Amino acid sequence: MKAIAVIPGKPNSAHLVETPRPTLHAGTVLVKVIRVGVDGTDREINEGLYGAAPAGADFLVLGHESFGRVVEVGPGVKKVRPGDYVVATVRRPDDCINCRAGEYDMCIAGNYTERGIKGRHGYLSEFYVEAPTYLVNVPPTLKEVGVLLEPLSIVEKGIMQAYKIQERLVWKPQRALVLGAGTVGLMATIVLRLRGLEVFTMARTPKPNRHADLVEATGARYLSSREQPVLGLDETYGRFDIIFEATGYSPLAFEAMEVFGNNGVLILSSVTGGDRHVEIPADKLNLEMVLGNKVVVGTVNANRRYFERGVVDMQRAEERWPGLLGRFITHRVQGLENYEEMIRLLNHEKSAIKIVVELGAGAQETTAKR
Ligand code: BGC
Ligand code: ZN
Repeated sequence: MKAIAVIPGKPNSAHLVETPRPTLHAGTVLVKVIRVGVDGTDREINEGLYGAAPAGADFLVLGHESFGRVVEVGPGVKKVRPGDYVVATVRRPDDCINCRAGEYDMCIAGNYTERGIKGRHGYLSEFYVEAPTYLVNVPPTLKEVGVLLEPLSIVEKGIMQAYKIQERLVWKPQRALVLGAGTVGLMATIVLRLRGLEVFTMARTPKPNRHADLVEATGARYLSSREQPVLGLDETYGRFDIIFEATGYSPLAFEAMEVFGNNGVLILSSVTGGDRHVEIPADKLNLEMVLGNKVVVGTVNANRRYFERGVVDMQRAEERWPGLLGRFITHRVQGLENYEEMIRLLNHEKSAIKIVVELGAGAQETTAKR
């Protein structure tokens, strides 16, 4: 079968490979891939900055945002059936205390693997085989947007954990600030709106633009950082109970610390591989954190609990704002053969929100209907 692979560590090495179709064993599931989303992590892997091939392999099949359909199940599999739509989780445990407890997104040792990222082939291939415990069922009503579930799971994790941490007090968050209006920032906007908060979502480009339209469709306010910096936002709008940082620009994490309120939670989700230095008002920030019982929490990866919550929120979002999630998918690459187009879009298409690769029959079925 065909797959899109890279040679980890080698810049711009994306290419098409022909690899054997994975074989089904007892207790595993064969999935036909329908579409796969790509993101900044895939771009970094293709730039040679990140990623690792499976042990013994000299290439890594890319792709960690999957959506597919079960073709066949091995003996002993009961949780999923042929015909089911599924999304696979990304991380696979090693054997630290958290991994052994099923909390492998909280791995302490760091020897975990991640499909399409670190030590395991990903989903940008015609088929994959996986154990049902890593497959999350998606109802057919969500088949056009199920590919967004993996990035949504990261958001769900950050927000569910903020609420979990705040069980330590009486917490009724009212106002949220989302920094960034890429896929993750937009998802955070949706999830926070579903939880009933007043949401302000800030990105660089002034209105009008596609991102602003999507933000406003949820009833949130769109702010441009060119027109108004983060510092001072609290004076205009009041302090924020939740801030979700998803810009990829680390200095904003520290600016955000200056505008969140007492008992506030700042959720950081940007994976920043650079080496940026900034000067910060350390005494002031420290004092406010202490006197205000503030929390800063990082979030990356997600286990199946957060994927399952994502399915529920996707259904709620579709009911409340029909068709909105589908508008996140701004670019479709037809077929694995067009990997160069995928890379070009990833590297240069500034207007893109979610870029997906459409595979085979599933893809035609989708395009025909639009
Ligand atoms: C993925 C996560 C993963 C992280 C770091 C992200 O793009 O969504 O699942 O843990 O990259 O490898
Ligand atoms: Zn671990």
